[in-house]
Amino acid sequence: MNVGIFIPIGNNGWLISSSAPQYMPSFELNKKIVQKAEHYGFDFALSMIKLRGFGGKTEFWDHNLESFTLMAGLAAVTSRIKLFATAATLVMPPAIVARMTSTIDSISGGRFGVNLVTGWQRPEYSQMGMWPGDEYFGKRYAYLSEYVQVLRDLWGSGKSDFKGEHFKMEDCRVSPKPQAKIEVICAGQSESGLAFSSKYADYNFCFGRGVNTPAAFAPAAENLAKANAISGRDVSLYVLLMVIAADTDEQAMAKWESYKAGADQEALAWLSEQGAVDTKSGADTNVRQMTNPTSAVNLNMGTLVGSYASVARMLDEVAAVPGTGGVLLTFDDFLGGIENFGQHVQPLMKSRSKLKLDMEAI
Ligand SMILES: Cc1cc2nc3c(=O)[nH]c(=O)nc-3n(C[C@H](O)[C@H](O)[C@H](O)COP(=O)(O)O)c2cc1C
Repeated sequence: MNVGIFIPIGNNGWLISSSAPQYMPSFELNKKIVQKAEHYGFDFALSMIKLRGFGGKTEFWDHNLESFTLMAGLAAVTSRIKLFATAATLVMPPAIVARMTSTIDSISGGRFGVNLVTGWQRPEYSQMGMWPGDEYFGKRYAYLSEYVQVLRDLWGSGKSDFKGEHFKMEDCRVSPKPQAKIEVICAGQSESGLAFSSKYADYNFCFGRGVNTPAAFAPAAENLAKANAISGRDVSLYVLLMVIAADTDEQAMAKWESYKAGADQEALAWLSEQGAVDTKSGADTNVRQMTNPTSAVNLNMGTLVGSYASVARMLDEVAAVPGTGGVLLTFDDFLGGIENFGQHVQPLMKSRSKLKLDMEAI
């Protein structure tokens, strides 16, 4: 199973809590995180794009770096790990994204790929006068389908004459072309999002489900399998999970309980309000999932809390769900968490036993 890291491009990572570690995003911090992840054989690092935070007393995600420029910097200070940036497709024309991709492909020596998002939060775009109107909610993936075709044209032949409803290219050129195949990922969860991924993406990402219920995301894998059956492609699923590990189960659970006790209710209220705006594309159910009281404090991303051995066992359970290609991990404390993962969790994972051989070969 592949393992990736979802790097903290926004303040405080993925814990909306005043009792969790409080930190600003910076290049230095993310450089240390990605270099450590590379050292322990992580397969890839992904950064998101977030243009407006949730506020509250922790100012959650009010402070965010930009994804492509951060990954360009990280490409220059790493050598093996694969890097993915996220394109805010509503505000970044595909010909510009194609050219930035060629640039980072060149910096990284062919280790770069792109996460395509439609955007689901109106204020991220309306604040700059670039929200196309709420009817966009119902057309998000039709727009993205045209967008990705333009990208593929430009990366493939260096030229696009694509004509659609949203994009009209006229002998559009991008050169140099990337040296490696550019992998595209998407995290669509709605029916149209999954249909998009199974038709155009190389991997689809989903949220994990619940606390210490590692296989609870299996229905998402089944939904993707159904979409794959229609598209005839074999797109694998990557699961987003937070790891909170310690020497013992009790110590790890005590950390988790303290994060929940410090949940920033004001920031969480803002999130539920925003999510409820989209009633057209099925995304409202995803936001209900994010704000479910069970673990709204980390957006209900699916949480593995326990001793190193317990976390390793649960990750092996994730790997056993058919259709799973990998996991995308976040940590409560990224630097300490990756260190403990590399030293104590990964060596116990059956689903990572091949890595030792790969690392020895380097
Ligand atoms: C791993 C992961 C990364 C994501 N990254 C972003 C992001 O950077 N920006 C964003 O606006 N949405 C992001 N999303 C949200 C998805 O793109 C998607 O909109 C969401 O999962 C709901 O699915 P839907 O669009 O099919 O309704 C991410 C979701 C996941 C699971």
